[in-house]
Amino acid sequence: MAWQRIASLSEIAVDAVLGVDVDGSRVALYRLANEVFATAGICTHAMALLSDGFVEDGKIECPLHQSQFDIRSGKALCAPATEDLRTYAVKLDGDEIRCRIAKPRARSPILRRSAQRIPTLSSR
Ligand code: FES
Repeated sequence: MAWQRIASLSEIAVDAVLGVDVDGSRVALYRLANEVFATAGICTHAMALLSDGFVEDGKIECPLHQSQFDIRSGKALCAPATEDLRTYAVKLDGDEIRCRIAKPRARSPILRRSAQRIPTLSSR
């Protein structure tokens, strides 16, 4: 998995968020002082774009139902979201922001088939 250039530091104001599309995945980039962080760009509660949210004190607040996430760790801090955001490795190369975006692994068709054969109490 290679480092990809996904934005320029000058595109993000301090304490702001920028939404970018990387190979079909929405990613949210945050600039806190001179550090940049990246998380999944869509809230884990529903389909809100976090790039439309608000950055404050190292947290992103979802624009739809106001869940908050820690920008550094992706941890969900309050309801209604309970699932943490994915985070991505970021590095600065001069003004360029580079990121490594790992695609979520697809489940193996063999595992899916095996899971369907497991008897349940109601099927006995
Ligand atoms: S969509 Fe983000 S909290 Fe509901």
